[in-house]
Amino acid sequence: MIFAKTIVITGVASGIGLRTAELAAGMGAEVIGIDVNKPTHEIGQFITGDISTPQGVAAVVAQIPSRIDALCNVAGLSGKSGAVPTLAVNFFGLRALSEALAPKIREGGSIVNVASIAGFGWRANVEKVKAIISIEGFPDVARVVAEHDVKNEVGYPFSKELLLLWTMRAAHEDKFKSRGIRVNAVSPGPVETPILKQFREVLGDVRVNDDIARTGRAGNSQDIAPTILFLCSDGARWINGANIANDGGLEASVNAQVFGFNS
Ligand SMILES: NC(=O)c1ccc[n+]([C@@H]2O[C@H](COP(=O)([O-])OP(=O)(O)OC[C@H]3O[C@@H](n4cnc5c(N)ncnc54)[C@H](O)[C@@H]3O)[C@@H](O)[C@H]2O)c1
Repeated sequence: MIFAKTIVITGVASGIGLRTAELAAGMGAEVIGIDVNKPTHEIGQFITGDISTPQGVAAVVAQIPSRIDALCNVAGLSGKSGAVPTLAVNFFGLRALSEALAPKIREGGSIVNVASIAGFGWRANVEKVKAIISIEGFPDVARVVAEHDVKNEVGYPFSKELLLLWTMRAAHEDKFKSRGIRVNAVSPGPVETPILKQFREVLGDVRVNDDIARTGRAGNSQDIAPTILFLCSDGARWINGANIANDGGLEASVNAQVFGFNS
């Protein structure tokens, strides 16, 4: 499997982003890590950057070399801070970074978006999701949230619904497809990282414990990182616009419940 050489990873100071960076570096990749917080130990090159604003994205893009192989969009917020910052980081900032870096990603390169099982409900919200992803550029997120009545309590799942639908659409957008850049998503279930504690506050212990019970255990960053890097590799060269559930079977269990094929 030929592996991406220069790989940009957001959210590299913690959890899944940190583990992805460690694994990539261990496989010989040059890692360029981005995070609003400084990592305790640096892996490869580190850029302090905040992707929650157009200015923050532009400042990051200016520091990225002119040719990279892959972009892993791992940085994310839990929703605890409300719908506006959550949509700004988890969707609009991520998308703006991807679009701005597209010309720097080599032909046949890869973008991997870390979504979530929490985005499962996009089909039920499809009209609202479509309307928001059709807003181009990096809008005034507070205005979008107000106009589309996105409540704070659904900010996190809704941000991942946007991300999942955009992943499918982006796979067929000229700015990526014309240069063979694949755009895929990985959707973890509950993973033991600092954000999980915040999910317990936002979603409630009952929901998180139920999710963990369905799969037998919570995941860890080591469970997720290899899938992200697989999607960066040539081994995934015919995978495009896909979402890989990496969740110990949680999505299958939710599907069984929703569509009534429980054993
Ligand atoms: N841990 C889980 O249970 C779980 C489940 C499903 C999906 N996810 C997703 O996985 C991704 C990684 O989460 P994690 O579990 O590693 O959490 P984490 O909190 O450990 O890491 C998130 C990282 O994103 C960075 N970040 C936040 N805002 C940023 C910004 N504006 N600009 C740049 N960096 C920013 C944080 O500083 C942090 O280092 C997130 O997108 C999250 O939604 C996590």
